[in-house]
Amino acid sequence: MTDPILASRDGAVLTLRFNRPDKKNAITQAMYSTLADELEAAATDDKVRVVVFAGQADCFTAGNDLKDFMTGVKDFANAPVLRFLRTAAVFPKPMLASVNGHAVGIGTTLLLHCDLVCLGTEAKLQLPFVSLGLVPEFASSLILPRLVGYPKAAEWLLTGQPFGAEEALQAGMVNRVTAPEDVDTVVTEWAQSMAEQPPQALQAARRLMRAPTQAETLQAIENEAEVFAERLQSREFQQRVAAFFKR
Ligand code: COA
Repeated sequence: MTDPILASRDGAVLTLRFNRPDKKNAITQAMYSTLADELEAAATDDKVRVVVFAGQADCFTAGNDLKDFMTGVKDFANAPVLRFLRTAAVFPKPMLASVNGHAVGIGTTLLLHCDLVCLGTEAKLQLPFVSLGLVPEFASSLILPRLVGYPKAAEWLLTGQPFGAEEALQAGMVNRVTAPEDVDTVVTEWAQSMAEQPPQALQAARRLMRAPTQAETLQAIENEAEVFAERLQSREFQQRVAAFFKR
């Protein structure tokens, strides 16, 4: 069986690539555990200076694995997904994302925690939490309105409608949009140039940029998780997910 998260290192750049194409890279609890393990190890490994998240040509990730969620994630507050969110939110080194195709749910909210993001022109982002009877996660209820303004955040989070790469760029949510085949190259160049920076200064600069909002980001993750766990038990969620798998 192939590994659903491929971890590879090129110099000081660690790439974590979603690799479950038959399920559109939907992220299971086991995959969240792997991601959290990788980040925890990278945080203290001097050989790693930058982390890149990537997917495949037609899909970054379809977000949380809905089968996992439907069958019930036990003890949500301590579930692997929460461990990953908490770990990524305080990860001390630059995180970059190379995104083509679908980036749904956490596939989009993860980008809010990345330092640099490049989208392919055909990338399709979506935040369908409410449409599924759920609520936003990964502090997106806090970060997104601040980043793109309340009206745009409300449009994306409350309608759940997909939006394209140009719209994300115009809203100031990502750094660059380029031809799909060039996305990995752009991100590799960014990653390598950051990896050549003095690592202590790089981390210190990043820490200074993030310190003012770190505590409230972590608190938002907890506040959202409490409501998210309740919503997972709701009829609205069960019905919407059952409808997705019945298509
Ligand atoms: N969880 C579990 N399985 C998923 C999944 C998810 N989030 N997203 C896709 N899959 C599975 C499908 O069930 C299907 O499995 P099957 O081949 O066994 O039937 C397979 O992946 C391919 O998906 P499909 O929907 O046929 O691909 P598509 O190209 O038509 O559409 C998406 C791609 C991403 C638009 C669509 O799969 C989708 O909307 N997925 C759900 C996204 C979502 O709501 N995520 C949760 C956010 S909290």
